[in-house]
Amino acid sequence: MIMDGNGRWAAERGLPRVAGHRAGVETVRRVVETAPGAGVDVLTLYAFSEDNWSRPPREVTALFGLLEHYLARETSRCLEQGVQIEVIGRRDRLPDALCRAIKQSETRTRQGTRLRLRIALDYSSRTALLAAANAAPGTLTREDLSRALGPDVDLLIRTSGEQRLSDFLLWECAYAEFLFTKRHWPDFTGEDLMNAVAEFRGRKRRFGGLEAAEVAQLQTA
Ligand code: IPE
Ligand code: IPE
Ligand code: MG
Repeated sequence: MIMDGNGRWAAERGLPRVAGHRAGVETVRRVVETAPGAGVDVLTLYAFSEDNWSRPPREVTALFGLLEHYLARETSRCLEQGVQIEVIGRRDRLPDALCRAIKQSETRTRQGTRLRLRIALDYSSRTALLAAANAAPGTLTREDLSRALGPDVDLLIRTSGEQRLSDFLLWECAYAEFLFTKRHWPDFTGEDLMNAVAEFRGRKRRFGGLEAAEVAQLQTA
């Protein structure tokens, strides 16, 4: 999920951008709670991109603070709910306190099996691809790269109307279904996620081939 529109949500209410990010954290909580029941077993949330460093330092600091707070507060609940937390992206530029919170959450929730929650932080898909390629000893296969990066995306949701990837999971989205909603991230609800998954289930995925029904029709013809 590309969680977009916190700033616009705040602006519409005459609030500072940070208020939008704070409201966005509540949405994260709702979505994480709803995901397993909706049939989602891996959820990747785009929380901070490499390019987001170009925002004013105050906003960046506030975002990191909110993330640290989220991890500190939600890890116990995640543990109870069988949610395994995993953070992807660069760690070397994050504040120490946030790094400690990440490590703690990852360690404590390691055994979670109901939902794998991946949070993309200081993340760039191009950087991740380059890192995986550069770490490979010999010729890299598709399988090697997929293993190094993570699972393929089935459904990509982006809130707030923009229809672009903004350097998120480029390789992993090769056959992803895309769903764009105008709703700003702070307004996104558990029901919206349920509806998104229902729409996804109705899509006809072909992966370059034919659908099973089409094949069956050919056989009876
Ligand atoms: C998404 O909301 C959160 C992050 C990128 C961290 P934005 O902050 O991008 O909100 P808009 O796009 O300005 O409305
Ligand atoms: C993408 O949103 C990054 C996150 C949601 C964390 P942006 O708001 O940064 O993307 P652009 O700049 O509109 O492409
Ligand atoms: Mg944005």
